[in-house]
Amino acid sequence: MRVLVTGGAGYIGSHTVLHLVGAGHEVVVVDDFSNAKPTVVGRLEELAGRHIPVHAFDLADAEKLDVLLAQERVQAVVHFAGYKAVGESVAQPLDYYRNNLGATIALLRAMQRHRIRPLVFSSSATVYGPTPRVPMTEDLPTSATNPYGWTKVMIEQMLRDLTAAEPQWRVALLRYFNPVGAHPSGRIGEDPSDVPNNLMPYVAQVAVGRRGELSVFGDDYDTPDGTGVRDYIHVDDLAAGHVAALEWITTHDRPLSVWNLGTGRGTSVLELVRAFEQASGRTIPYRVVGRRAGDIASSYADPSLAEAELGWRATRTVHDMCADTWRWQQANPEGYPS
Ligand code: UFG
Repeated sequence: MRVLVTGGAGYIGSHTVLHLVGAGHEVVVVDDFSNAKPTVVGRLEELAGRHIPVHAFDLADAEKLDVLLAQERVQAVVHFAGYKAVGESVAQPLDYYRNNLGATIALLRAMQRHRIRPLVFSSSATVYGPTPRVPMTEDLPTSATNPYGWTKVMIEQMLRDLTAAEPQWRVALLRYFNPVGAHPSGRIGEDPSDVPNNLMPYVAQVAVGRRGELSVFGDDYDTPDGTGVRDYIHVDDLAAGHVAALEWITTHDRPLSVWNLGTGRGTSVLELVRAFEQASGRTIPYRVVGRRAGDIASSYADPSLAEAELGWRATRTVHDMCADTWRWQQANPEGYPS
């Protein structure tokens, strides 16, 4: 298939581009490079061993989108593009609603005009809201605690309404748990533009000497060691899940599907720190500080639906995730060159 990947220069997008190419699909990328560096493209082409057409514009530009969908003869879309920083979304909610909802509506309208039906959407376990039951199953009610999370809930709802009205759509909502790790080559990985908000990139930057110590946000949660428990999933497993979902929706007649992409295993902050120390051979200094607003004690998936329907499951271990993150961080201590 000829697949358009929105946000294909970003962290999860770039890894998914490689998996799509590896599975024999033709990939076209659209990215406005608001949170990605153009140098990722050369590396992707080097790893893919082929040219990857990249269009640099904002998805909200309907005219450019029309031209792209027609010229590139796009048959399916994997939609990653969007803002994703929780704290920033609280400070600048309108930017998040305008960008994440606006771009998605523009994309859906363009897909409608060109009669492109398969869409894989990048959702998040954040849609399970502030007090979820764990392990989380896809049938739990959805809600959110911040504007970023609400954009995911709202886009999911839009897609429910759209697929109810027009059942010819083939949509997959993929709810990611905590994506970490990097391509084993160390050539592509996560490159936060500012101080990392997330645990793994922060730990990696401490290990490489860019930051002094990790702040552990609370050790008084109702978890085995008191620190937050999350379901970390290797970005390559996640990318493979997108290929499996795309191939499933284009061979089955169901307008809307929802799948968790996680490992089903929880790891605490301190367990992750120890695993990273082991994989890197470095000591990670840390200090326990107060809880971070909006955090929950435990989040991990019940990934059995994706396994039963897609035949997909995550295979990489927490050690693999740390070892691959470390390879990327060591080779690119300052991230991608500008
Ligand atoms: N943590 C620290 N110190 C840090 C950063 C994080 O102790 O510097 C802790 C958090 O308190 C939490 C765990 O590490 O217990 C994981 O935190 P992350 O920020 O890495 O991940 P979250 O689970 O909070 O957030 C992720 C995504 C969000 C998404 C959310 C819910 O980054 O986009 O999952 O799905 F909304």
